[in-house]
Amino acid sequence: MKFPRTKLVLSLVAALFCMTMLAQAADTKIGFLVKQPEEPWFQLEWKFADMAAKDYGFEVIKIGTPDGEKVLTAMDNLSASGAKGFVICTPDVKLGPAIMAKAKANNLLVIAVDDRFVGPDGKDMESVHYLGISARKIGNAVGETLMQQVKARGWDLKDVGFMVMTFDELPTIQDRTEGAIEQAIAMGFPAGQVYKAPIQARMEIPTAMDAANTLLTRYGNVKKWIVAGGNDSCVLGAVRALEGRGIRVEDAIAVGINGTDCLPELEKANPTSFYGSFLLSAREHGYKTSEMMYQWLTQGKQPPLDTRTIGKLITRDTFRQILKDEGITE
Ligand code: GLA
Repeated sequence: MKFPRTKLVLSLVAALFCMTMLAQAADTKIGFLVKQPEEPWFQLEWKFADMAAKDYGFEVIKIGTPDGEKVLTAMDNLSASGAKGFVICTPDVKLGPAIMAKAKANNLLVIAVDDRFVGPDGKDMESVHYLGISARKIGNAVGETLMQQVKARGWDLKDVGFMVMTFDELPTIQDRTEGAIEQAIAMGFPAGQVYKAPIQARMEIPTAMDAANTLLTRYGNVKKWIVAGGNDSCVLGAVRALEGRGIRVEDAIAVGINGTDCLPELEKANPTSFYGSFLLSAREHGYKTSEMMYQWLTQGKQPPLDTRTIGKLITRDTFRQILKDEGITE
C-alpha cells in the first residue's frame, strides 16, 4: 500500500519539530543564584529548580553568591557557559541596577526571587520580573497565631513583651515584621510593649541571638515573651537567647517563617518555645521561577512582573504530614 504523500510530509515535519524542541531544551542553560546557599530554604529552591530542569530537559547552573562581587563574576561565568538567563535571590537588594545593567550588556534575562531589587530612588524595581511571598499577609498570620496562643494560654497581656527580630534593609523582611506587629496590635496587644531587636549584618542564628540578648538586657523584668521575625533563623536566635536568660519554655511563644530551617527544632524530643512556622512554597520559588525562565527563553513567553506566594502554619503536631504533602520530605 502506498503511504499518502501528505501524511509522509506531515510526519517528517512533526519529527523535525520534536527534534528541534529536544535540541533546544538540551541546549538551554539557566543560572540559579542564591545569597545564602547554606540555608535549607535556598537548598530547597535549588532542589525544585533541578526538578523543573529534569521535567523540561534544560540545565540549571547553581551558584552561591553571598556578595556583590560573586554575583558579577557568576554572571560572567554564566555568559561564558552559554546561559541566556538566570533566577537570583540577591545578597543585597541595592545591587538591582548593577545586576540589570550587566545582564543587559551580557544579553541575559533576569527573574528576581525572594528579595526584590531596589532602585536608586529606594523604591522596588517594578520593571524587573519578580516572584516572592505575600510578605505583609504572612506577617499578619504570624501576629494572629501568636495572639491566639496568648489567649489560649490565658496570659495576662500586661506581663507580656513582644520581641520582633527586625532587618529593615530588606523590604520583604520589613513587611513581614510590620505585618506581625500590626496584627497583634489589632487583636489587642499593647503597642507600648512591642520591642524591636534589629539584627546587624546577615540574618543568621548567631546574629539574631546577639540582637535578642541586647534587647533582653534592656527589658530584664518582662516575664513572658512572644517572638516574631523575618524568617526561621531570626526567630531561632531569639529562642536560644531566651533560653540563655532562663526564660521557661512555657513562658515564651515564638513563630517563624520559611518552615524549612526549623525542622531540627520541631523534631526535638522536648518542645522548645518555638511554637511553629509559616511554611513557604519552596516549590513555587524554585520550580516555577525556573519554568518561567525556560518558557521565556524558549517560547518568548514573558512571565508576570509580580507573582506572590502564600504560607501555611506548621507546628510540632502537623509539620510531618504537611511537609510530606508539599513534597518536601518523602
Ligand atoms: C528572604 C529570606 C529567606 C526566605 C525568603 C523567602 O530571602 O532571607 O530566608 O524567607 O526571603 O522568600
